[in-house]
Amino acid sequence: MQNTTDTDDGTTGFSEHVSAVEALGTTGITHRPVGPAESRSASRLWWDADADDYQAAHGDFLGDVQFRWCPEGLTEEGAELLGPVAGRNVLEVGCGAASCSRWLAVQGARPIALDLSAGMLRHAREANDRSGVDVPLVLADAGALPFPDESFDLACSAFGAVPFVADSAAVMREVHRVLRPGARWVFATTHPLRWAFPDDPGPEGLTVYHSYFDRTPYAEFDDDGRATYVEHHRTLGDRVRELVAAGFTLVDLVEPEWPEGHQEVWGQWSPLRGALVPGTAIYVCRRD
Ligand SMILES: C[S@@+](CC[C@H](N)C(=O)[O-])C[C@H]1O[C@@H](n2cnc3c(N)ncnc32)[C@H](O)[C@@H]1O
Repeated sequence: MQNTTDTDDGTTGFSEHVSAVEALGTTGITHRPVGPAESRSASRLWWDADADDYQAAHGDFLGDVQFRWCPEGLTEEGAELLGPVAGRNVLEVGCGAASCSRWLAVQGARPIALDLSAGMLRHAREANDRSGVDVPLVLADAGALPFPDESFDLACSAFGAVPFVADSAAVMREVHRVLRPGARWVFATTHPLRWAFPDDPGPEGLTVYHSYFDRTPYAEFDDDGRATYVEHHRTLGDRVRELVAAGFTLVDLVEPEWPEGHQEVWGQWSPLRGALVPGTAIYVCRRD
């Protein structure tokens, strides 16, 4: 998901997302501490600036009314990780254009789609109109959910929010707060193992260059040093501990395999790497 070939502290390799990189004046990349407020601000800037390119690049693959968990293409229809959805109040965290929520609505659920970026929600609104499946959209931060306690029967996220927040433990606590006892929280993120490899879909992306144990955030920045894009890393153990601390039980950890014949390259996700190393981790949790 990172936007460059990561050469650390370099100004080279902005291979994709050219308009957002230019619009935000991004000039370099590094690993450095980035706190919650700066991460939030960078994410808002980035996803607003990149929304059009993101949808142009991935909109067809994602579909207007479809629940895809990850670049490997796994769908909720095939995987059934959420359990029964009909009649359930569902929160989608970091919804982007909200394709997943529209799919849930068609299955008879009552979804609410939440995102930090007005740019991404503009695409969600357009897709609501285009598809005729109108899901409620909420502009808010995953770390401060604007809902009462125990208001949802289910929460889900396909690469939304979690990799981009400094305090993911706080997001887990917030999701726990708004879920009813026994409800599921199922979310997909980049597989933590990928942190150790360059973000490159080709052979260069098969050599470890960075410590898996180094949690220092990845940051792109402009000439003033302001972060314009940020990603945070948790090891597998970190993630399990923050889920358990928030009050969740981990029911399953799904590592989707690259399907035979699937040729779609998405950033660092490719058939070449997918055949060798997991690219996505999907955490299936239950609120105790
Ligand atoms: C990779 S996109 C995934 C969007 C969608 N789920 C999909 O599969 O296309 C990540 C989304 O997370 C959102 N996001 C990032 N930080 C967030 C935060 N703190 N709170 C809520 N949403 C956030 C972004 O605005 C963006 O829409």
